[in-house]
This record gives sequence, structure tokens and C-alpha cells, in this order.
Amino acid sequence: MNTILEKFILNNSRSSTTIIDGNEYIYFGGTSYYELHRNDEVINSAINSLKKFGLSTSSSRSSFGNHQLIIDLEKEASDFFEVQDSVYLSSGFLSASTLIYYLNEKNSFDVIFIDEHSHYSGQLASKISSNKVIKFNHLDYNDLEEKIVEYSDSQKLKPLIITDGIFPIYGNIAPIDKYHDIAKKYNAIVYLDDSHGIGILGEKGKGTLEHFKIDNQNIFFSGTFSKAFGGYGGIIPINNNISNEIKNSSIVNGATPVPIPAISASLKGLQIFMNNPELKNKLWENAKYLKSKISELGIEVKINHVPIVAWNMKSKKELTKIQDYLIENKIILQSSNYIGAGENGVLRIVVFSTHTKEQIDYLIYTLKKII
Ligand SMILES: Cc1ncc(COP(=O)(O)O)c(C=O)c1O
Repeated sequence: MNTILEKFILNNSRSSTTIIDGNEYIYFGGTSYYELHRNDEVINSAINSLKKFGLSTSSSRSSFGNHQLIIDLEKEASDFFEVQDSVYLSSGFLSASTLIYYLNEKNSFDVIFIDEHSHYSGQLASKISSNKVIKFNHLDYNDLEEKIVEYSDSQKLKPLIITDGIFPIYGNIAPIDKYHDIAKKYNAIVYLDDSHGIGILGEKGKGTLEHFKIDNQNIFFSGTFSKAFGGYGGIIPINNNISNEIKNSSIVNGATPVPIPAISASLKGLQIFMNNPELKNKLWENAKYLKSKISELGIEVKINHVPIVAWNMKSKKELTKIQDYLIENKIILQSSNYIGAGENGVLRIVVFSTHTKEQIDYLIYTLKKII
């Protein structure tokens, strides 16, 4: 691996600009869209709670592990998502297992239809749920419907449809409006992993359902505090009376909660986001600007306000060549082979609300020279 890249990964904060060996680099990667993970108020809230309460409650939530900060965070999240209650849990990754396990125990579904590029957490939870799992083509609601019809032909089934809201690599938005219609038609339920959607999509930043103006009565969704909100831990906002049952499930109740400073940071990050709508406006503006400039380079891109762009490379060699050239020019971009990236990997650009127009212009100018 490029040594500068290695130094960045192992020793640097994921901020829009960073110093490596005395030189300033611009970083366009990861998911710290508002840099709330290094916001002073977020950091101070983490430090103060650490000093007051120690690192963790050192006990699972069912015994002495619960904490007022968790209750406050769940209440704030419920107000933000406009739902009755929310369940905070040890990681965004665990949200899928928690929900799918719960729904399985309740016999709420008996076959799973999952987008082929859905996140690892949904794929894994499906696999271990011991139900039949059928993958449908990425974002393809026609394929989903055909597969439901084909599979349900001779049986009466309750399908569970699983998808991400925004997909991590290309930033594609799942057609949740279509899945919602299909779910109504075939008596299905939908689980949406909105880890990348919350804090990004919708007028208030509530995520993919707000983007499509769909209420969440028949759709389960989850998110994470570790991306837009600069904190840590998973969140399942819930609009009916099952939140207590989920809170009492073994995955939530049988584990020590997220460390105290991270809970406090998550709460502060969410509050800052809620009280400063200009953050999201700036991110949307940067995303649209970046994407319009990328499309001028002849790269196919949907110009919208999702702050992620990626495109395939002919080979891994080409990917490394471009990435190294960008590093020589003091730009750090991610080459990714995360789920959905394909065999050769992709070059992935993420823009933050904190990037300046000049930084984006410089990225485009440098890309133009190498592509
Ligand atoms: C779509 C998606 N779901 C879930 C997760 C897991 O969330 P966390 O990192 O908070 O555990 C990630 C990545 O981190 C993700 O990209």
C-alpha cells in the first residue's frame, strides 16, 4: 500500500484536510459527512461524561447497564424521527440481526427477498435466520416482484424485503416507494438499513422514508450514529408498541451498552445536526456541485444531493495508478472493494459539508489530468 495512505489510515483523523509528514492533504472518503466526530462540543460532551461516569456501565443493559444518557438518546432519536420509541444498540451492524431475529421469532415472515448489494449486516442476518433467502437484482423492483410471484406461486407466503436506503459504494437510493407498493400487494414487510440515509436524505434529514414521503407504519428501518451524526452505535426507530420487546431481546439486553463517551457524543452530534439545518444544506450544495463537475469529465453520474460518487476501473492496476497520482497531488481518495464494488474495485469520492468549492475544483482539476 502507498505509504502516505497507510500513514493516513493508521494515524490521522478523518477530516476534510489532514497533515501527513508536514504536508496538507485533502480527504474525500469515509462517511464523516459533517465532521461531527471531531466537533468541539461533541468531543467535550464525550470527555465530560467519561470523567463523570467512567468508560462504560460495565454491565449488560438488563442488569445495571442501563443509563440516563441512553434513555435521553433514545428519546431524542424518537423526537427526531417522529416515532413512538427508539432502541439504541451496540452497533449499526447489529441492527439488522436484532430486527430480523425479532421478526423471525414472531413468525412475521417466512421468506426473504434481499437486494444483491445489501449491506453485509442484512446478508448475514438473513443467512442465520434459517429462512429461504432469495437475492433480487440491485435496485430492480421488477425483478423483485417477478421473484416474489415466481416463488409464491403455489404457497401462501409472508415475504420480508431487505434493502439499504442509500447504498454505500455508489450512493444509489433504493426505490422504496416501489418496494412499499409491492409489499402492500403481496402482504410483505420491508426492512430498510438506512445507515447512510439518515442525516442525508429528506428535508429534515430523517432518511430515505422522508425522501420518498412514505410513513413508516409498515416499514422497519434502522440506522447508525457512526456516520452523519459523528457518534457511535445503532438505532432502530419504532412506530408501534414493540420497542420494549426489542429492548428486552437478548442482543440488546444481554450486552454491555456502547461506552458512555460514545453515547454522549451521539446525543450531542444528533442535537447539533437537528439545530443546524445549514449543515445539510451545505452538504447537498457540495454534493450537487461535485457531481455536476464529475459528469463534465464524462463519467456517468446521477446529479443529486447524495454526497457519494464512485465509478468502476478497468483493472486494479488502473485504480492504484489513479489513487497514487492523486496522493502525489495531495488528495486522498478511497479505492474500495466493499460490497457492491465489483471485482476490480471502484474509485469512491465522498464530499463533506466542510469541503470548500476550491477544494472540490482542485479535485476535479487533478482528476481531469489523470483520467
Ligand atoms: C449500509 C450499512 N449498514 C450498516 C453498517 C454498520 O454500521 P456500524 O459501522 O455503525 O456498525 C454500515 C457500515 O458501517 C453500512 O454501510
